[in-house]
Formats: sequence, structure tokens, C-alpha cells
Amino acid sequence: MKPPLLLLLILSSAVASTAQQFKEAPKFYNAAECPPTDTAVHVAMTLDATYLRGSMAAVLSIVQHSSCPQNIIFHFITSSSSNASLLRATISASFPYLNFQIYPFSDSSVAGLISTSIRSALDCPLNYARSYLAGILPPDVGKVVYLDSDLILVDDIANLAATPIGNDAVLAAPEYCNANFTFYFTPTFWSNPSLSLTFSDRKACYFNTGVMVIDLNKWRDGDYTTKIEEWMELQKRMRIYELGSLPPFLLVFAGKIAPVDHRWNQHGLGGDNFRGLCRDLHPGPVSLLHWSGKGKPWVRLDAERPCPLDALWAPYDLLKPPFLFDS
Ligand SMILES: *[C@@H]1O[C@H](CO)[C@@H](O)[C@H](O)[C@H]1NC(C)=O
Ligand SMILES: *[C@@H]1O[C@H](CO)[C@@H](O)[C@H](O)[C@H]1NC(C)=O
Repeated sequence: MKPPLLLLLILSSAVASTAQQFKEAPKFYNAAECPPTDTAVHVAMTLDATYLRGSMAAVLSIVQHSSCPQNIIFHFITSSSSNASLLRATISASFPYLNFQIYPFSDSSVAGLISTSIRSALDCPLNYARSYLAGILPPDVGKVVYLDSDLILVDDIANLAATPIGNDAVLAAPEYCNANFTFYFTPTFWSNPSLSLTFSDRKACYFNTGVMVIDLNKWRDGDYTTKIEEWMELQKRMRIYELGSLPPFLLVFAGKIAPVDHRWNQHGLGGDNFRGLCRDLHPGPVSLLHWSGKGKPWVRLDAERPCPLDALWAPYDLLKPPFLFDS
């Protein structure tokens, strides 16, 4: 005997409320002029239940705007406490042709180094995985594009990956030299000459660590993970900054990075950290939209209180509406 339709409806919505269900994305093919697939573009992102919907949208936007989508290899870093097989199954179901790996990141490797920041979401251990990519990814991956999960690309990621890093830099990212750099560190930091001297011989500018092109070979040679950890250890003893994983990156790299055109990080669309006000685009062209800040487009869309620019994220949302059956 078949169960009545109403019962099926109730059951399927119960399933949807415990695990998110995603639609399958179309398959995207390489253009004829693509180089052989062994010249890969490597992309690293974190993956967890909270930001899964954002990650799925980001992946879709990347393959959709790529001329050579089959040359992209995704490296997903997930917390060792999350269900990797479920995440793997979710990615595979929506992107059956995606070339990807999942790597567990041990929360305990960084938990002892995290001091609380002004925004608790920034204290999640997985947020610090970007400092450990050189050790997590296989040694034959020499260069990676690191991306946050709250962004979409509207341009070919190969152009971002091809950013020249040069001989002197380890990573490339869009720099913002108009931002008041003083703000990112505490008066304790600036009033201590041995600390503030860190920036004395460089033109340090703010950069956002949500979009970076990293030369992993140079990172490994210079053991930059240890240099970042040393600042985090100092932060535990004396409060030298307020935010989470960003300031140690600034301490080690600000003023020493290769530039990336600002079109590759139209950041801040999540609004400010305190009131979550809507933000507008910065002037100039757009290749990447980044909902950094407190508000996330999927949360605001669900609450039916979206910011105007959230409409640009919505077309990449793969979440199945709750009323759709799993066919
Ligand atoms: C992980 O998810 C799978 C479903 O894909 C489930 O069968 C399994 O029990 C889950 N494991 C844990 C530890 O929750
Ligand atoms: C930068 O911010 C600090 C304190 O946050 C302030 O004292 C300083 O005047 C600011 N500098 C500029 C150039 O706005």
C-alpha cells in the first residue's frame, strides 16, 4: 500500500529540516582552446554545515564563469568534527563532474591559539585553516587560490589564478591603502616600540584574506605558518588586535604582497559588524562579489529582508526549496 501524499509531504519536510538538500548543477565543459587538464587551477575553500549553502553557490559561480571548468581542482578543508562523508556526498550530488578533495582540519591544532574576537563567528577554528594550507594540500600543489565561502565570481578564475606573485612576495591579494591601518591593532600594540617597529620598513596596507593567490612553495620554504602562529601566541599573552584570523596575516604580510585588481574582491557586502547595514559596490569593475561582514545573503533572503545586492547572489543558490521532492 502506498503511503498517502500528505504523509510523504510531512516526511520530506522533516528530512529537509535536518539536512539541506541541493539541486544538481548543470555540467560545464572546457572550451576548445583550453590547455591540457594537467595545467590545473587549484582552488581552496573551507566547507562546513553553516556555510555549505554559500560554498555551493561559490563553486557554481566559479565553474559557470570559467572557460576551462574541467581544469579546476577544488580542495575543501573541513573540520575534523564535521561529517566529511555527508559533505562529500552533498558536493558530488550537485556537482557530479567536479574534481575535488576533502581534507580534515583538526580543530585542536589551532584551538589553543585562538583568543576571542569582537565577532564570535570569526573564532571558528576552520576560519584559521587558510594559515595551514601549505601543510594541508599535497606538496605538488605549488599555487592555490584561497576563497571564502560567502562570495561569488562573475569572471574567469583563471585570470585571478594567473596573477603574477613576483620574486619577493608570497601571496597576492587586493590591497586597500586608504583604509586606516591603525584600526586593526590595539593601542597596546602601537605603544610598544618593539611591536610597532614590525611595520616601520614597509608601506603596510590592509588586505582582505578572503581572496588570496598563494605561492605554496614559497610559503613552505619560509615556514609562514609558524610566523603566523608566533603572533597568535603573543596575542594570547597581550591583546594586540581585536579581529580573528586577519591581523596575524597583516603582521606577517602587509606591505609585502603582490597586488590584485580590486575587481577581484568587491568586499563588505555583508554589511558592517555592528548593525548589518546594506552596503553598495565600490566604484569600478566587478569580477568577484564578497559578502564579508556580519550579514549573509542566504540568511537575509530567507528572512525576506534582503539587501539590494543579495539579488546577485540568489541565481547561484542551489538549495532546494523545502516543498520540492527528492526525485
Ligand atoms: C554522516 O552522514 C551519513 C550520511 O551521508 C550518515 O549515514 C552517517 O551516519 C553520518 N555520520 C555521523 C557520524 O553522523
Ligand atoms: C586612524 O585611526 C586612529 C584611531 O583609530 C586615529 O587616531 C587616526 O587619526 C586615524 N588616522 C587617519 C589618517 O585617519
